[in-house]
Amino acid sequence: MRVKLLAGNWKMNKTNAELPAFFAGLSTELRIELAAVQDKVEVLFAASYTLLQKALELAGPHKIRIAAQNCHWLESGAYTGEISLGMLQDIGVRAVLIGHSERRQYYGETDQSVAAKTKAALSKGITPITCVGETLEERKANKTEAVVQRQLLAVLNAVEQPGDLIIAYEPVWAIGTGHSASSAEAQDVHAFIRQVVHQKMGKNAAAAMRILYGGSANPANIAELLTQPDIDGGLVGGASLKPDDFAKMIRAALEVAH
Ligand code: PGA
Repeated sequence: MRVKLLAGNWKMNKTNAELPAFFAGLSTELRIELAAVQDKVEVLFAASYTLLQKALELAGPHKIRIAAQNCHWLESGAYTGEISLGMLQDIGVRAVLIGHSERRQYYGETDQSVAAKTKAALSKGITPITCVGETLEERKANKTEAVVQRQLLAVLNAVEQPGDLIIAYEPVWAIGTGHSASSAEAQDVHAFIRQVVHQKMGKNAAAAMRILYGGSANPANIAELLTQPDIDGGLVGGASLKPDDFAKMIRAALEVAH
């Protein structure tokens, strides 16, 4: 059984001063202790570097995981402005987003750097949430599977064992646009991703791997997305910024997981 994972991606939002009210609000809106339902739904937030320490402190008691939004693949050296996995580990971070399309698009992230970062994270025991997904142009040209396969194989070829690697399928055209993929469109690509993992890493790895959907997931569409057999959770941007919206999504995930 794959435990559902709802992961909020805060992107470049929030300050430390806002965090106590956020976590208090989430806990009030939820009306259940996440610690008691961990076998059904896990919750995570990917936060900016400056928020990580405070977020870890506040989220820890609720069994909410905290992830960074990027990392370097090397341990240390002359890389001004970069943060290594060892540095994340140093403050207790145990998960990291890798290869988000915004990083691929605006910061020159490549299949190679995404693969190197994913491999390094796994070797450190830090859970990589590695993102793949096609642009609108690529979808229109019927290249969705080819693009997703290329991005995925770059990663799978680099790692020996998938460990607790999590894949996030995020069609670029659905991110921040209010136009989510339909549950059927998302399921098709998720099934394809699982098939590629099966071919490359075997049946057990494919059955165990969690594949999250991201791109305008919100309280209104999350339940239907999560009822699809190969959708194991969500990577949620905009709707993760407000505790009431995100609490609704967690509750929906819990109902689906029952
Ligand atoms: P969105 O972002 O939910 O705001 O579309 C998702 C993401 O970029 O991870």
